Formats: sequence, structure tokens, C-alpha cells
Amino acid sequence: TRVLILNGPNLGRLGVREPEIYGHATPADLEAAAGKWASELGLDVEVRQTDDEGTLLGWLHEAVDGRAHVVLNPAAFTHYSYGMRDAAAQVTGSGLTLVEVHLSNPATRESFRHLSVVAGVATGTIAGFGFESYHLALRAVASRVSEAAG
Ligand code: DQA
Repeated sequence: TRVLILNGPNLGRLGVREPEIYGHATPADLEAAAGKWASELGLDVEVRQTDDEGTLLGWLHEAVDGRAHVVLNPAAFTHYSYGMRDAAAQVTGSGLTLVEVHLSNPATRESFRHLSVVAGVATGTIAGFGFESYHLALRAVASRVSEAAG
């Protein structure tokens, strides 16, 4: 079972970016943790990050065509990118699981973060648990896959 962990803008700056909000762990730490969780859960996981909207849309299209589930932290795109929402809708629309994740809990922050344009086309959303948000999302994907397999 393939899963793409897709991270949007500024998430390549983890560790140096507002550590009081996002923590001190780095993208390399996320990659290492994801590898460990993947082997525990029996998933084939790849972590990617981009600051570019078109690149992120292309990865979502690739997930549809390659039948990969998606764990998506859209970062700031969460709040305004209808193009990304439409690409995410194709993932869930084709029967794949897409979990929206956030490190912080946007609902507790500035009001512009309270709207997610992706939430309505995601399978579900996990927010507020730091790196553990990604772990919980992978667990959700793994349990849906095993349920579907009966
Ligand atoms: C974020 C929350 C977004 O509001 C913000 O723009 C980010 C990160 C999070 O993981 O908490 O870049 O998606």
C-alpha cells in the first residue's frame, strides 16, 4: 500500500520556522519518523515537500494515477487554494484515502486559519498533535486499508 506524505509551503523550514508553534524537529526528523511508522504499519511511504502550488497539484494527480493514498499538510494553501482542493477531490473521488493533517491546531489560531478549503473533500482531518498528527494519519490510512480488505 503506497502512501504519499505531501507537505506544502514553508514546511521545508521546520525546525527553524516559528519553533514555538511548529517545534524544533526538522524535515529530516519527519522523514526518519515516517520511515519507522511505515514499517510498523506495513505501508510504503514517501515524504515530499514543495513551496510550489503547481508541483503539489501534480503530485495529487500522480497519487490518483498511481493509486497512492495521501497524507496532506497543505500548509497555507489550506486556507485559499481551490485548485488544490479540486485536485484533492480527485483523490478521494477515486476511492483513495486523503487525510488532511496539521501540526498546529488552526482552529485555535488566527481567524484566517479557521477555514480549510480542503476539509470538505478530505476523508478526514487530524490537527494539533505536532509530528504525531502524521503518525495518526498513517494509522487511519492503514486501518481503512485493512477494513477494505476485510
Ligand atoms: C499548518 C497550519 C497552516 O495554517 C500554516 O499555514 C502552516 C502549517 C500546520 O501544520 O499547522 O504552514 O498547516
